[in-house]
Amino acid sequence: MVSCTPRIFNISTLLVISVSINQLSGNLDPNSIANSSKVTTIILDDNNFNGPIPNFLGNLCFIEILDLSNNNFISEYPELSFITSLTNCRYLTLLDIGNNPLNGILPLSIGNLSTSLQYLDGHNCDLKGSIPYEIGNLTSLIRLTLFGNELTGSIPASAIPGCIGNITTLRYLYIDSNRLTSTIPASLWLQKDLLGLSLSTNILSGSLPQEIGNLKVAFVIDLSVNRLSGSIPRTIGDLQTLSDLSLAHNALQGSIPESMDKMLSLEQLDLSHNNLSAYAIGRYRRKYLVENGVDFAPGTILRVSYYELLQATEGYSESHLLGTGSLGSVYKGTLNNGRDVAVKVFNLQQQNAFKSFDVECDVLRNLRHRNLCKVISTCSNPDFKALVLEYMSNGSLEKWLYSDDYVLDILQRINIMIDVAYALEYLHYGYSLPIVHCDLKPSNVLLDEDFVAHLSDFGIAKLLGEGESNSYTTTLGTLGYIAPEYGMEGLVSIKCDIYSYGIMLMEVFTRMKPSNEKFSGDFILRSWINDSMPDAITQIIDSNLLGPGELNTKKLKCLSSVMELALNCTMESASERVNIKEVVVALKNFRFQLLI
Ligand SMILES: *[C@@H]1O[C@H](CO)[C@@H](O)[C@H](O)[C@H]1NC(C)=O
Ligand SMILES: *[C@@H]1O[C@H](CO)[C@@H](O)[C@H](O)[C@H]1NC(C)=O
Ligand SMILES: *[C@@H]1O[C@H](CO)[C@@H](O)[C@H](O)[C@H]1NC(C)=O
Ligand SMILES: *[C@@H]1O[C@H](CO)[C@@H](O)[C@H](O)[C@H]1NC(C)=O
Ligand SMILES: *[C@@H]1O[C@H](CO)[C@@H](O)[C@H](O)[C@H]1NC(C)=O
Ligand SMILES: *[C@@H]1O[C@H](CO)[C@@H](O)[C@H](O)[C@H]1NC(C)=O
Ligand SMILES: *[C@@H]1O[C@H](CO)[C@@H](O)[C@H](O)[C@H]1NC(C)=O
Ligand SMILES: *[C@@H]1O[C@H](CO)[C@@H](O)[C@H](O)[C@H]1NC(C)=O
Repeated sequence: MVSCTPRIFNISTLLVISVSINQLSGNLDPNSIANSSKVTTIILDDNNFNGPIPNFLGNLCFIEILDLSNNNFISEYPELSFITSLTNCRYLTLLDIGNNPLNGILPLSIGNLSTSLQYLDGHNCDLKGSIPYEIGNLTSLIRLTLFGNELTGSIPASAIPGCIGNITTLRYLYIDSNRLTSTIPASLWLQKDLLGLSLSTNILSGSLPQEIGNLKVAFVIDLSVNRLSGSIPRTIGDLQTLSDLSLAHNALQGSIPESMDKMLSLEQLDLSHNNLSAYAIGRYRRKYLVENGVDFAPGTILRVSYYELLQATEGYSESHLLGTGSLGSVYKGTLNNGRDVAVKVFNLQQQNAFKSFDVECDVLRNLRHRNLCKVISTCSNPDFKALVLEYMSNGSLEKWLYSDDYVLDILQRINIMIDVAYALEYLHYGYSLPIVHCDLKPSNVLLDEDFVAHLSDFGIAKLLGEGESNSYTTTLGTLGYIAPEYGMEGLVSIKCDIYSYGIMLMEVFTRMKPSNEKFSGDFILRSWINDSMPDAITQIIDSNLLGPGELNTKKLKCLSSVMELALNCTMESASERVNIKEVVVALKNFRFQLLI
């Protein structure tokens, strides 16, 4: 274990401090950070820092991103006084203190934090007391996560953050698993742009209002394990994009509204443990659910029967085959309801296939992100296992990158890699436990009809356990893309994904596979690029990007920055690799520079 030498921060010109996923421990020293007053980003997540979160952080007037999550920080006073000090920081946009044993109370001064604050994450922090009414002052808030605390009292009425007048910014509100009481404030139902809402596992009472129908763009609503009563409003049928709805374990009564027939995006529905009258479920929905072997148990995905899949793929005919891997094959199919899907059939002769199916189900069941390939359903018998996935009409990035008749332009490549970075950011930080994909490569990046990239193939992904920042495995990803410590010792951490991501960045802009025969021994894709940087950049970049009239300094500068970022992702030592959040920021910045 390394002890944090605070001197590393004592550089007054430093703008970004990032030492995530190390084993740094100790306290933060005021004499050092206070002098780096121009710092804009501090990312210390996944270390073993302990002691109180110091108040002097408030001296960092220019701080925009402060991520202290996943450490052992505590709070010195019952009130989290460092929040009061941070009210000096006018540019703060992200504050993440999640997963620290803070054991304190949110101060009223939380309402004096910067109005530019967009992300406030304080989940699993042993927070006590109530959610201050003043939080409603945070009018730019996009995401508020306070789940897994011991918060009591009511959700402050008419003080839902992210709202001024008719403008609402709030997209994600996750305050489940607390001890919140009273009713759900009416202002919540005015958050018409909300995408994800979980108030599950609290002590909320009252009934669901007609206004629930305002949450028209939401994709997940979880109000389970509360004391909600009354009937389900008919307006719930207006939630056309909702894919997950759980109202389980409440005291809801009456019939299931027929309007739910119209909820065509619904993929997981859990109404169990209420007092709803059965057989009242709408005609279409009942037919659909019965046909698809729906299971009303929590967390399950709609199941498709073996016979429907057989029909959908015309008996797994060759003409439907999209691809074959070591663990199985993927077919295109059309379900009875007309939806095109990709059916991944696991080859159960393969020793790892059972485990791989379980892992993929486990991981994907609980994840929802625009840039992940969504599981629509599963089919599982003792001798047949398949996953039914969203169909991606434009195939893989691999296909496009090496196509002879189509050239991806620089912007398309940057956009795709930003999409992949978003997916990774979600896997690494957006879920209660970090998830390592372990097999990033262009053939696992699929493109939908709008050319949005979706990360797929979670067959060997790893969920890191609580408090774990790495783990060992014997299942390996793909040669050429795997990080040295993963290849040699089986050591898996989110830094392995960063390495593979870096190799992918190199491949996407050079159109050179890491497995190319020119590479051998110590001469690999990474060293080839490193040796050519920065002067010989034009000799490594995909010549399609440098055609006549294409060459300009803005573009070259961008390509050179991308390659530098790729090298920063693929440092030999895992602790020196950048963090995916920095990758997102950097790539978006390169894109911006290219466009202006
Ligand atoms: C911080 O800056 C002040 C003023 O420039 C200086 O007096 C002090 O010694 C510096 N502290 C450290 C630890 O370098
Ligand atoms: C918030 O800031 C205002 C203006 O600076 C100040 O008057 C007020 O006391 C602060 N509120 C809290 C709770 O600190
Ligand atoms: C909330 O915002 C108002 C107006 O900007 C300000 O006067 C007030 O002090 C803020 N603070 C707190 C804690 O609420
Ligand atoms: C808010 O929306 C309502 C209804 O759409 C409208 O009548 C009202 O004028 C809007 N208010 C503002 C301040 O835009
Ligand atoms: C369930 O609903 C029925 C009829 O609507 C009612 O008679 C019964 O009391 C309810 N049970 C509970 C536990 O609320
Ligand atoms: C992707 O597929 C859609 C139809 O599935 C097609 O219209 C579109 O042109 C494709 N995208 C590109 C970049 O060719
Ligand atoms: C790469 O890392 C170096 C050294 O830490 C840093 O100066 C540079 O800005 C980074 N470049 C990019 C594009 O991230
Ligand atoms: C790139 O080359 C430099 C100088 O030869 C070396 O110090 C550095 O470690 C190399 N970086 C990578 C990522 O290989």
